[in-house]
Amino acid sequence: MANRPALHAEIVGWGKYVPSKVLTNEDLAKSVDTSDEWIKSRTGIAERHIADPKEASSHLATKAARAAIAVADINPRQIDLVIVATVTPDYLFPSVACQVQDALGIPNAAAFDLNAGCTGFIYALSVASRLIAAGAHKLALVIGAETLSRVLDWQDRTTCVLFGDGAGAVLLQASEAPAGLLGCTLGADGSGADLLQLPAGGSRRPACEDTVKNRQHYLKMNGPEVYRFAVDAMVRASRAVIEQTGVLMDDVELVIPHQANVRIIQSAVKALKLPPEKVFTNLARYGNTSAASVPIALCEAVEQGLVKQGDHVVLVGFGAGLTWGAALVQWGAPLPVKLPFWKLALYHAVRPLALARSTSHRAALRARTIISRVDLNGHKP
Ligand code: ACO
Repeated sequence: MANRPALHAEIVGWGKYVPSKVLTNEDLAKSVDTSDEWIKSRTGIAERHIADPKEASSHLATKAARAAIAVADINPRQIDLVIVATVTPDYLFPSVACQVQDALGIPNAAAFDLNAGCTGFIYALSVASRLIAAGAHKLALVIGAETLSRVLDWQDRTTCVLFGDGAGAVLLQASEAPAGLLGCTLGADGSGADLLQLPAGGSRRPACEDTVKNRQHYLKMNGPEVYRFAVDAMVRASRAVIEQTGVLMDDVELVIPHQANVRIIQSAVKALKLPPEKVFTNLARYGNTSAASVPIALCEAVEQGLVKQGDHVVLVGFGAGLTWGAALVQWGAPLPVKLPFWKLALYHAVRPLALARSTSHRAALRARTIISRVDLNGHKP
């Protein structure tokens, strides 16, 4: 068999979307017993974005994906893999990824969701990069998207102040240049499942009157226990990925941690002996957006000019499962990206085309169903 050159998965597009509605700490203090001072001093969060009642995770994911596709300046029809990391899918099934595939009008893509809590995006980045490196796919859309506001108990001050909604996306393209994921470490410890979970609505406790009455369709968390786990997991995962790749921590230009709590980030930064200016945070404006937090932060860091071509960037996170993970990425794409106005307009024009494609496919499916019913009836004994 002929040797093929080693393939890498280079990040060629990035984008984010957060809903326009902003909920400040002061707003929250009007409905639960909390204060701006408590939330800021214990978490670093000042405000978060909340999805409109008509918006679900797939809508946020699609908007972030469109932004990433515009930056990459590619035809979305070339995308052959869509992975959405989420713990708040629109439905238990079908997946958010299939809805994104349909909304973007991508005809020939494999599409699936991945649930690894807040570590989901790092897991998805690893899976997609490795599928590209194996030659199985060429252009992958990797998204983290959440509407956590839908599963928060707005009467529980210990959780409702922490989370927000949003989505971030990257496009990975097969490349022979050594860029993209240089190394990745992923881990899980299911014995910590009860520390952070949504107890009902799955196969173990299907929705019923009791689950609703007992507020079991809301996120439950043991905050202090998750806190202790989080610091240790971030430190261990960051060290492991650095050791794996042989790149020195001093040669890492930027660390992008999961944005859950600024105190968790500061403790991990201290243990890793990192200069604070090398660590990106934006949780003051978004809160914890779970699987969307790392790609939203990556996107903002790039937009703010904090990443240059050739830079080494560590992405690190932890989450429900319990799970953890860290990835070391070498940035390949030249920056900054300036898209001409007419190209942006063109990407928006693709939207009605995708909608027309989806509508005609749905109509064709219905027509086939009706025809087969008529056919079956016609052959009834
Ligand atoms: N406003 C005012 N008081 C509050 C609030 C609030 N919003 N929330 C809790 N308190 C009170 C508690 O009731 C408690 O009062 P008490 O001493 O009278 O009992 C006191 O504040 C201290 O509570 P703790 O829980 O000990 O506060 P702590 O300093 O640990 O902060 C927090 C709580 C912010 C939740 C912290 O533990 C944390 O960040 N944990 C990690 C959470 C996390 O990262 N989750 C994301 C996981 S990723 C995923 O997959 C979704």
